[in-house]
Amino acid sequence: MTTILVTGANRGLGLEFVRQYAAEKAEVIACCRNPAKADKPAVPGVRVMELDVGSPESAARLAEALGGKPVDILINNAAVYGPKKQSAVESDYEGFLETYRINSLGPLMVSQALRANLLAGRDKKLVVISSEAGSISDSSGGVLAYRASKAALNMIFHGVAKSWARDGVAVGILHPGWVKTDMGGPDAPIGVEESVRGLRARIAELNLSNSGRFLDYKGAAIGW
Ligand SMILES: NC(=O)c1ccc[n+]([C@@H]2O[C@H](COP(=O)([O-])OP(=O)(O)OC[C@H]3O[C@@H](n4cnc5c(N)ncnc54)[C@H](OP(=O)(O)O)[C@@H]3O)[C@@H](O)[C@H]2O)c1
Repeated sequence: MTTILVTGANRGLGLEFVRQYAAEKAEVIACCRNPAKADKPAVPGVRVMELDVGSPESAARLAEALGGKPVDILINNAAVYGPKKQSAVESDYEGFLETYRINSLGPLMVSQALRANLLAGRDKKLVVISSEAGSISDSSGGVLAYRASKAALNMIFHGVAKSWARDGVAVGILHPGWVKTDMGGPDAPIGVEESVRGLRARIAELNLSNSGRFLDYKGAAIGW
């Protein structure tokens, strides 16, 4: 049975990953900041575990609780949109740094903490949910903290893909589309079900020969 660990699994795209993979009878480890408050997906076999992706201590506690359990697919999904003020004219610098901490460093801290679990897994697939908003070549400006945090995430995991390929780990850097969630808002044209179906197809295709690419949920390449 494939074991999949998802961060930010209590709502939005993370919760939909849990629903879809659990419905396929995969073993799903659903991580969230506050398991007591998390919506329970309507499918059995999901283990809910605590993880604040902005905290290396929390990531280390999760690794300890997992105790060497193999993880086949790690999906770094959790992120924040950043502070209210993140324009070229006025920025909340603390909020800017917090956005980097959660969106850019968080997935690295979690992946490094769970590296042994991933290496013990069969599939060895490491996924980060990025955003087209992090593409410098496509950028129209604005929301600088969010955009910069995702551009940094892309650079970090492009590097991780090069380095971890030696250990057989394939890295997917994926954009989910503009999706109706708390972050995407009600005007987004894509539903969570469609987006996650596409992302899961990209994860199924992920291997060492296409590792480190920046793709959208339909498989189209996005410029860095
Ligand atoms: N929706 C879109 O249109 C869109 C477009 C491009 C990319 N994305 C990316 O897709 C991913 C999922 O986004 P979404 O739309 O599902 O967002 P969402 O509905 O706002 O959900 C964000 C999730 O991240 C979790 N999270 C935030 N900070 C965390 C932390 N420090 N530790 C652990 N969990 C934390 C939240 O948990 P709490 O409930 O505890 O806050 C929540 O579960 C993100 O990486 C986002 O950047 C989304």
